Amino acid sequence: MFAYNLNKITMHIFNGKANLIAHLLAIKTSNSTIGFVPTMGALHQGHLSLMQQSTTQNDFTVVSIFVNPTQFNNPDDLLKYPRTLDQDVAKISAFDSSIIIFAPSVDDIYEENVSSDPFDFDGLEHQMEGKFRPGHYDGVGTIVKKLFEIVSPTKAYFGEKDFQQLQIVKKMVEKHHLAVEVIGCEIFREANGLAMSSRNERLTADQRAEASFIYKILLEVKDKFPTHTTEQLNKYVASAFIQSHTFELEYFQIAEEESLLPLEEKIDTKTYRAFIAVFVNNIRLIDTISLN
Ligand code: PAF
Repeated sequence: MFAYNLNKITMHIFNGKANLIAHLLAIKTSNSTIGFVPTMGALHQGHLSLMQQSTTQNDFTVVSIFVNPTQFNNPDDLLKYPRTLDQDVAKISAFDSSIIIFAPSVDDIYEENVSSDPFDFDGLEHQMEGKFRPGHYDGVGTIVKKLFEIVSPTKAYFGEKDFQQLQIVKKMVEKHHLAVEVIGCEIFREANGLAMSSRNERLTADQRAEASFIYKILLEVKDKFPTHTTEQLNKYVASAFIQSHTFELEYFQIAEEESLLPLEEKIDTKTYRAFIAVFVNNIRLIDTISLN
């Protein structure tokens, strides 16, 4: 454990799972609740909003900061993923110095075997991100399950920006009978509408400003959803991106929220969402919006 001393504020930071487990055992009573916010660092306002929910709903909050190698299908993306531990610690301490930070090494988490376990998420893993990032959700399932086993949280908080991830984690909890409540939290957006993401750090100022385009398109889709067919909406989005010089569309899909299957025929009792993945140079951004 480090006792990080920032302007006389002591933060509890653990970089080994054994020490974290021992600390949690020492501070917990039989009815204390632990909120958990798993992150890959490069923290932004969206992460802080998850922490806010956790600290108001639980006795203790643990935030993990770990860039998980097994969920990256693209080695360049893993290499360039921002790693800003000191700044992350400063942000957490300014927000709430009672938060316990877990920043393990790859060795501590994976020991000799840096690989994913195979998961069956009842087909959720074959849609969208799962199609375009092979193995991604096995990596996510592997790390989230390991972290849940270490932290034993009462509640765990995930942003809705990766809505597919949220549904997959809920499915994993259900199928593996894990005693944790998974809570989805609203997307936090920059002033221009761009969904907050650690990858936004890699955009130039101009790209960041222009990226409001992604949310604008999603809002237009939402507006047209009651009166347009899926085919019309797919065409509308594809043509908007053909005209763009900055953004390259990887996929756009309207899907039913629970199954994540592409919308074929609208059913009044079901809820739908638009999902989008876009490249700006080699930087990949995702976003989503609820449609009804
Ligand atoms: O959403 C993320 O930041 C990651 O996928 C998560 C949940 C921390 C697992 O590495």
